[in-house]
Amino acid sequence: MTVLTKFLLFGTLALSATVNAQDATASATDSGAVSEPSAAAPSSAPTTGGSTSGFQFKETYPADSAKPTPKAEWMALLDGKNITNAPVLKANGDNGPQQQGDADPYCDWTFTTCTRPTDIITCPKGQWGITYDDGPTEFSPKLYDFLKQTNQKATFFMIGGQVVKFPDLAKRAFDEGHELAMHTWTHSYMTTLSTEQIVAELKWNELAIKEVTGYSPRFFRPPYGDIDDRVRSIANALGFTPVIWNHDTDDWMVAETPGFQESWIDGNATEWAGLNATEGGISLEHDLYQKTVDAAIRILPTLQEAYKVTTVGQCTGQQSYKEGVAPNSNASSSAASPSASSSGNTPEGSTQANGQDSHEEGAAMSIQSLDSRATMGLLTLIGAVSSYLFM
Ligand SMILES: *[C@@H]1O[C@H](CO)[C@@H](O)[C@H](O)[C@H]1NC(C)=O
Ligand SMILES: *[C@@H]1O[C@H](CO)[C@@H](O)[C@H](O)[C@H]1NC(C)=O
Ligand SMILES: *[C@@H]1O[C@H](CO)[C@@H](O)[C@H](O)[C@H]1NC(C)=O
Ligand SMILES: *[C@@H]1O[C@H](CO)[C@@H](O)[C@H](O)[C@H]1NC(C)=O
Ligand SMILES: [Zn+2]
Repeated sequence: MTVLTKFLLFGTLALSATVNAQDATASATDSGAVSEPSAAAPSSAPTTGGSTSGFQFKETYPADSAKPTPKAEWMALLDGKNITNAPVLKANGDNGPQQQGDADPYCDWTFTTCTRPTDIITCPKGQWGITYDDGPTEFSPKLYDFLKQTNQKATFFMIGGQVVKFPDLAKRAFDEGHELAMHTWTHSYMTTLSTEQIVAELKWNELAIKEVTGYSPRFFRPPYGDIDDRVRSIANALGFTPVIWNHDTDDWMVAETPGFQESWIDGNATEWAGLNATEGGISLEHDLYQKTVDAAIRILPTLQEAYKVTTVGQCTGQQSYKEGVAPNSNASSSAASPSASSSGNTPEGSTQANGQDSHEEGAAMSIQSLDSRATMGLLTLIGAVSSYLFM
C-alpha cells in the first residue's frame, strides 16, 4: 500500500524540469521550511506568470506553498450537510495517508482502491475518457495543438496555482472546447487535510478556473486518487463529483523514475486498444513534462482507432460545469463508432486502477511517487530510495 511521494508544488515553470529532484526538499504540505525556488508563489494574486499575456485576476489567491484557508462563505455551504465523520488521516511523511490496520471503513482509494457509486471511474463500453492532469504548464500548448489538429476534446484536471500562473493556457484549453476540471490547489493527499483545508483546496481551484473561463467545474480528481468518504461528502456538499481512472499510463515516470521505458506507455495503450470490444475506460496522463506530452501525442491515435475517445462529461452524460453547457463544448472524437455507447455504465468497485495519480508538479519541482500495487518491482525500489534521498 505504500505510496511514496515527493512533491513540491509550483516552482517557476520557466525553470523547467531539470531543476527537478534535488530541489524537492519538503512537501509543500508539511513544512514551513519549504524551499520555494524563485518565490514564484503568487501569495498576492495578480500573477500573470512570466509567459502569459496579462490576464488580470480580481481575486487575491493563496500562496501555493502553504495549505490555503477557505472563505467563510464557503464553509457556510456545509451547513446542514451530512459530512462523514471520519478521522483526518495522519500523513505518512510525504508518502500519503497512513492506514490503521487492515480495515478501510471509509473507502479510501489509496488503501484498497475502494470506490463508491458516486465516483466516476470509467466510461461505458466502447468509449474512452481521455484525461490530462497537473497543467497547465509550459508543455501544454504542444498537446493543445495536437488535439486541435485531430479535433479531439479532452478533460484537463488543472491545479489552481497553475491556472493562476498560466491563465492564458487555461483559457485556450477552454475556448478550444476541452473540459476543464479541478485537481485542487496544492496537490495534497486530501484524506490528510482538515475539512477547512479540503474546502479551500477545491473552492480556490474552482474560483481560479471560473475567473478565467466564466465556468465552474463540477469534476475534480483527488491527487494520487486519495479520497475517502469524508472527502467525498465534503466535495458533494460543494457540488463536486470525483473522477478517478481505471487505466494508468504511469507516464510521469518517464521523467522521474530511472529505468522506466517510454515504450511501456505505448505498449499499454496498445493493450487497452485490444479490449475495445468489451471495455471502456478512463486513462490517466499528464501534461506536465515534455516527455509525457510526447507520449500522449503518440498514443492518442491508438486509442482513437479503438474507442470513441471523449471527455468525462460526455461519456458519462454528466454536466461539466455548474453553469451548464459551455459554448465550445462539442466533444468529438476522430474515431471509432460509438457502437457500444448504450451499454454498461460505470460499475462502481470495478476499478482496475493500476497505479497512482502519482506524480509531480509544477514543472520546476519533482514528485517522486509510486505505487507498490503496480508491482513495479525494481522501479519501486529505485523510486523509494530516491524519494528518501530527496527528502
Ligand atoms: C449521513 O450519511 C451517512 C452515510 O455517509 C448515512 O449513514 C447517514 O444516515 C446520513 N445521515 C443523515 C442525517 O442523512
Ligand atoms: C505497461 O506499463 C508497465 C509500467 O507502468 C510496464 O511494466 C509494462 O511492461 C507495460 N506493458 C507493456 C505491454 O508495455
Ligand atoms: C476496435 O478496434 C479495432 C482496431 O484496433 C477496430 O477495427 C474496431 O472497429 C474497434 N471496435 C469497435 C467496437 O470500435
Ligand atoms: C456543436 O454542434 C452542433 C451540432 O452538431 C453545431 O450546430 C454547433 O455549431 C457546434 N458548436 C460548436 C461551438 O462547435
Ligand atoms: Zn496530479
